[in-house]
Amino acid sequence: MRSDSPTQSGHRDLERAQLRAYAEDVRNSYTRELRRSQELKDTYLATVKALAAAVEAKDDCTGGHIQRVHALGMLLARAIVPEEAGDAQLACGFLLHDVGKLAVPDAVLNKPGPLDADEWELMRQHPEKGAKILAAIPFLDRALDVVRHHHERWDGAGYPAGLKGEDIPLWARIFAIVDTVDAITSDRPYRQGRPLEAAIDELRAGAGAQFDPACVAAFERLDREAVERLLEHRGERHPELDEIAMPEFSLKSHAA
Ligand SMILES: [Fe+2]
Repeated sequence: MRSDSPTQSGHRDLERAQLRAYAEDVRNSYTRELRRSQELKDTYLATVKALAAAVEAKDDCTGGHIQRVHALGMLLARAIVPEEAGDAQLACGFLLHDVGKLAVPDAVLNKPGPLDADEWELMRQHPEKGAKILAAIPFLDRALDVVRHHHERWDGAGYPAGLKGEDIPLWARIFAIVDTVDAITSDRPYRQGRPLEAAIDELRAGAGAQFDPACVAAFERLDREAVERLLEHRGERHPELDEIAMPEFSLKSHAA
């Protein structure tokens, strides 16, 4: 067997050292990129939570509303579209559904009684205003489905676009259910919250008119105790939103 000359063996040692150094470089830059990407995700998430907290701080009667509809919405989404329930845009859409209320005057938003026609007009603008607030953020493009369309009705009589049936984005149809359940079961300055059964009766009565019948049926199939537990969460007026468990955050824009 032919043995290597000292020069050949020296070359191989050098190659190995270069390869090791190269591998080390790749590993370091990969770790750096991972860290940077995590920092970016954390920043996006903090921004979403800050916006949600701003809405909660402005809207007096919704103590804990955002956490409840987010948690309840995720439960219903997992039952209806399990393959999309891990999409952070869905969670962000639920968290930011009423971000447009930032543009509604406090006197209207917190009026302790029924709104007059002009006040309703202002209130009804909040989905479009919310969509405008978020429109420039590419990683929230699909979350806009919820923000813009959560007050549409299955029969087309909702707002702002008057979309009908399956033309209404599914995420918004899902959200409309949990938003209504939370509204019915929550106390308001002018009335007491009602039990979950009353909310389910209203969903049944509105299936095919206000609500997607399939979403109502899916809500009825949810574990009643799990729903009750989520509805029991009554936060303070300025709740910490950190307890919200977010799915893996993807920075992908759906439009891309
Ligand atoms: Fe709303």
